[in-house]
Amino acid sequence: MSSLTLDVETVTQKKHKRLAQWVEESAQLCKPDRTHWCDGSHDEYQSMLRLMILAGTAIPLAEDKRPNSILVRSNPADVARVEDRTFICARTKDEAGPTNNWEDPAKMKEKLKGLYTGAMTGRTMYVIPYSMGPIGSPIANIGVEITDSPYVVANMHIMARVGTRVLDVLGEDGEFVRGLHSVGAPLGPNDADTPWPNNATDKYICHFPDTREIWSYGSGYGGNALLGKKCHALRIASVQARDEGWMAEHMLILKMTSPAGQVKYITGAFPSACGKTNLAMLIPTIPGWKVETVGDDIAWMKFGADGRLYAINPEHGFFGVAPGTSMKSNKNAMLTATRNSIFTNCAMTPDGDIWWEAMTDQKPPELIDWLRRPWTPESARRAAHPNARFTTPASQCPVIAPEWEDPKGVPIDAILFGGRRAGVVPLVTEALTWQHGTFLGATVSSETTAAAAGKVGQLRRDPMAMLPFCGYNMGDYFAHYLKIGARPGAKLPKIYYVNWFRTDENGKFLWPGYGENSRVLKWIFERCEGKVHAVDTPIGRLPEPVDLDTKGLDLPPATIEKLLSVDVNGWLAEVPLIREHFAKFGSHLPEGLNREVNELEERLKKAKK
Ligand code: GTP
Ligand code: SPV
Ligand code: MN
Repeated sequence: MSSLTLDVETVTQKKHKRLAQWVEESAQLCKPDRTHWCDGSHDEYQSMLRLMILAGTAIPLAEDKRPNSILVRSNPADVARVEDRTFICARTKDEAGPTNNWEDPAKMKEKLKGLYTGAMTGRTMYVIPYSMGPIGSPIANIGVEITDSPYVVANMHIMARVGTRVLDVLGEDGEFVRGLHSVGAPLGPNDADTPWPNNATDKYICHFPDTREIWSYGSGYGGNALLGKKCHALRIASVQARDEGWMAEHMLILKMTSPAGQVKYITGAFPSACGKTNLAMLIPTIPGWKVETVGDDIAWMKFGADGRLYAINPEHGFFGVAPGTSMKSNKNAMLTATRNSIFTNCAMTPDGDIWWEAMTDQKPPELIDWLRRPWTPESARRAAHPNARFTTPASQCPVIAPEWEDPKGVPIDAILFGGRRAGVVPLVTEALTWQHGTFLGATVSSETTAAAAGKVGQLRRDPMAMLPFCGYNMGDYFAHYLKIGARPGAKLPKIYYVNWFRTDENGKFLWPGYGENSRVLKWIFERCEGKVHAVDTPIGRLPEPVDLDTKGLDLPPATIEKLLSVDVNGWLAEVPLIREHFAKFGSHLPEGLNREVNELEERLKKAKK
């Protein structure tokens, strides 16, 4: 590896002066023991796994259970995204808007430079050139992540396209997003390393949209550390998208084929741990229908010459929620993660495999839990952390759509918004217009999940599932949606609001979800074809129970009725809450959304009479 490293280094330094200079400056600041330019090879990936195993970060899983896979257990204080430590350092606080943490860019950089000084001492500094989107495609976007974490290098190998071939595209003067990441745990000459180095006191996930920079310090986990994902492909990209007239969204992308062979592409924005991966890989319970996966977390959508929105998945792998994933709930995810995968904060079985809650009907008789403690079904605690994840190559997914890497993207027919709502929000609602759909997206509320540090189950507004990921003022982001909708000649997707998470008075889910969601997708599919009936209600268009294919669904008619009914009083009670939510955006709130809330109220009042 070392001779190869030198080659790449010399070639690159000659080729791209700004890149070479930034890498040099970062090394001078962070003072690593050595620098390694990642070539993206299979050998390099394997050497990262070996390194983690030798250092005690990872355990190799049994070759006859999960070939070429490892289990990593993080520090219990570093298990999820840290939203309160995430900053958008735009020029002004107003540009970052009321939903983001803000600090003056110069001040923040001063503070961070202090923290980064000598932060990589005793470690290797890795330079990872990566492409979000197929390499060389006109819609792809290049970044370079500097990190001192082999765990990050290995994960980036799966989640993005990385290495020398990216540098080739970058050439001598290509533009790239700069991402500097350190776990913030330097080592003195006689310091022993810990299995999961991180900084217990300081964590900063900072974005500088104006200079397209990301500075991440103190955490090694997921979206905090894999900078191509949320930091680049959403927070920085959303700003680029605003400036250039496209969309960077927290959305899955799926392909649906009808028994007649018709194809529609659907995207869906649900907040973290609210069902994107599951919907993207769903196995329909209705005969003859097929769903294939294009992406499970992020969509970049741009207008084609025909006026339609085309979506690409900028990622190359899945970083999926492990608990709840089973051969029953998400067979395709299970089959994807059978090999060449990284498992984080899962439990381990005595025979060298992994386990998490609800993976199997029967709990294993004994495990080592994610905290490295012996565990039995009698143990009062969970075996896997609720935000335990698998990192796995998208190409291994049995239902990956053949066009998933098509640089043109796929033309989108429908956009779904949704969240976890125990009450009020029906199973599915069709927006009346693009503006009304934007309103539905802007008002999404959902219960918080373990994907972010903090309390779980708190209802909060999470517009377009972008609350933690929008790189600028959310009011301007709403306006950008309306601008997209007003583009001359645009042939826009229809918009829907779905809720799989309605519960009864005992807290039990009313709707079976998962594969059964295909019944809702079918209605949406046929609405796009203009084939199936919907009824106008004050909140939008809904299917009547007869419009929904419920053949073979073991659900009492009263439940279906409840799922598809409009709770007028419940919605009237929502109106002031929506106004309160919108008021936060002040003059940045587009007038069109104010009109929508007024019209909703009028329609509800009329329905009450
Ligand atoms: P991120 O990767 O954090 O963005 O999450 P995601 O939106 O991809 O969520 P994912 O599909 O991983 O689902 C998260 C949790 O919700 C898992 O525990 C799933 O089992 C559960 N879930 C997914 N779909 C459904 C559904 O239709 N009904 C119910 N009740 N639960 C679901
Ligand atoms: C999410 O939280 O929405 C994720 C996981 O997809 S992370 O990469 O940690 O952001
Ligand atoms: Mn996500």
